[in-house]
This record gives sequence, C-alpha cells and structure tokens, in this order.
Amino acid sequence: MIDEEMVNALNKQLNAELYSGYLYLSMATYFESIDLPGFASWNKDHAHEEFTHAMKFYDYLVSRGEQVILGEIEAPPTEWEGALAVYDHILKHEQLVTGLINKLVDLAISKKDHATNNFLQWFISEQVEEEETANGILQKVKLAGEDSRALLFLDNEMGSATE
Ligand code: FEO
Repeated sequence: MIDEEMVNALNKQLNAELYSGYLYLSMATYFESIDLPGFASWNKDHAHEEFTHAMKFYDYLVSRGEQVILGEIEAPPTEWEGALAVYDHILKHEQLVTGLINKLVDLAISKKDHATNNFLQWFISEQVEEEETANGILQKVKLAGEDSRALLFLDNEMGSATE
C-alpha cells in the first residue's frame, strides 16, 4: 500500500517515460527521413530503453498492490533542424527527467516511503548515465559541425553501437 499522492506521482512518471520513448521514436523517424540510419537506429534502441523504464514503474506499482493508470501520451515533435538540434533536445529532455525523478524521491522521503525511495534509486543512477551519454554524443555532433563526411562517419559509428 502506497500513499495516494505517491501512487499518482508514480503513474505520472510512467506516462513521462512512455512520452520519452515516443520522443526518441519520433527522433528515429526524423533521422530516417534525412538518411542517417545509424542515428535512427540509436534512437530506436533508446526508445525501447524508455519503454523498459516505463515498465519498471508498472511492475513496481503492481508489486505493491496499486493500480496502474495509463493516461494520454502527448504527441512529440516531428521535425528538428539537424542532428545537433536533436541531441541538444535530448540532453535538455534528460535533464528535465532527472528533475522529475529527484522530485519523486523528495516526495517519497517526505512520505517516509522507504521502499519507493529505494525503488527510485535505480533511476537516480540511470539519469546520471542518460545525461552523460546524451552529452557525449552532443559533443561529437558539435565537433562534426558542418562537415558532412564527419557526420556520415559518426552515423556509421552510431549504427554499429546499436547492432
Ligand atoms: Fe527514462 Fe531517458 O530516462
């Protein structure tokens, strides 16, 4: 049994993780449309990872005997102005998710809900990784700049990273 406010916040985060998956999937389709299949593949892969994050919330709620409530998922953007704009968006998005997870931990602590706090610690570590990965790719894309050969080389590297 979890406090009602906490259950609602966990369900909201489940929705936010589904949105993240949707966002990465939309980025994948954008990369398909500009013929960068390696970036598309990385984003498709990451979309899948976000759906597994959502399922962690699903499984946790069920394991505590709480109801999972699936809400509407907002439509993600469909166009960006190139790879740099996408990875800039990804880094900002992951920073936003880190903020959401931190707020959930604050709530769990305020409710003295040690089990939920413990569950959320996995996400605290995961967000450090998520931001590091996003920033790492962003820096590489920045280095490639306007050099299309460098971008194609990077696309190849991104594709093999997900094979
Ligand atoms: Fe579910 Fe990218 O954090």
